[in-house]
Amino acid sequence: MCMACSNTRSVSPFIQENVDFAKAQLGLAIDTIEASGKCLNPVTLNSKGEVYYCGYSDWRSGFFPGSIWYLYELTGDTTYLPLAKKYTAAIRKAENLTWHHDIGFIINCSFGNGLRLAPDTAYVNVMKQAARSLSTRFRPNAKIIQSWDVKGNSWQSERGWECPVIIDNMMNLELLFEATKLSGDSTFYQIAVDHADRTLAEHFRPDGSCYHVVDYSIETGEVRHKQTAQGYADESIWSRGQAWAIYGFTVCYRETKDRKYLDQALKTFELMKNHPKMPEDLIPYWDMDAPNIPNEPRDASSASCIASALYEISTYDVPKAASYKEYADRIMESLSSPAYRAKVGENGRFLLMHSVGSIPHNSEIDVPLNYADYYYLEALKRKKELENQTIK
Ligand code: GLY
Repeated sequence: MCMACSNTRSVSPFIQENVDFAKAQLGLAIDTIEASGKCLNPVTLNSKGEVYYCGYSDWRSGFFPGSIWYLYELTGDTTYLPLAKKYTAAIRKAENLTWHHDIGFIINCSFGNGLRLAPDTAYVNVMKQAARSLSTRFRPNAKIIQSWDVKGNSWQSERGWECPVIIDNMMNLELLFEATKLSGDSTFYQIAVDHADRTLAEHFRPDGSCYHVVDYSIETGEVRHKQTAQGYADESIWSRGQAWAIYGFTVCYRETKDRKYLDQALKTFELMKNHPKMPEDLIPYWDMDAPNIPNEPRDASSASCIASALYEISTYDVPKAASYKEYADRIMESLSSPAYRAKVGENGRFLLMHSVGSIPHNSEIDVPLNYADYYYLEALKRKKELENQTIK
């Protein structure tokens, strides 16, 4: 039996219908891959409308295995268990990645969920090794984990950066918190807290919005630049960056109980919620300062990530806690409508349409993205648990 699905209470028609849809659509994706005889990892659609599959070192490689774990958890259907294990095992080599920061996304979404749902000492070892790999990127003078390497004539080097740190990096900290619990080694926890504290100090503007990139001096630890890579402008509000901040600081609050982290998550969320250009359906534009709003692409991935974080926030001791669930419910209604949710068999067999990878890089514009789907399933699971009062 699925360990986390022991609750047999009935679920709302909304949840049941979306779980049935996910089962059908993700089931087709799995069937297609299984029929190929390969162990592929779908990410998005390319410009020809073909599914793009990634390798283990791509920052998005953990989301497909993670989605299978969530499907297993949401359905309790044990036929997904060997599949979740297989697609998770396929990216194990990522435990040794040290050339970018995304190992937290990769390993925690796959092995982290595996450990929660099908405990295995091999998974424990992967989580610990991955945390060691991520920790090699900690720069003690800046008290920060470096996100991207700056080498040769890479585009990061052309920007003149030395130690670029992106707000996305907040999402990698969960791995470090978990690794301390698994190993008893508080070094990982301390690195996570140092990174969160420096990010809190440097990444945010007075209105609660965040920069995408802050570049540091490795030697002195001083800030060199505050800019963007994927947003419209250095000073603009890139929506997914805000989503990463809301979610990442919520996790930091969960793990430390330090209220300043939750306060930042709430401040950034309030900024998005009250933004005069936030559309009625609550699915943000890819950048809230993009010049041609309302004729700018939306980003479903930001919305699903924010919804998932809000379900967690609604469980904390905050004023009007229920309002965060209500807002998340409204996002989920929109994402589950025909405007964003694909028809079964279409959209490359991804769940959601209308996300944006990076407009400045002219890459993945108005496409499905596997991380939009992952956070959508996580949000659905959290909604289900909240409504059944079984949040763990
Ligand atoms: N972490 C990369 C992105 O959000 O696009």
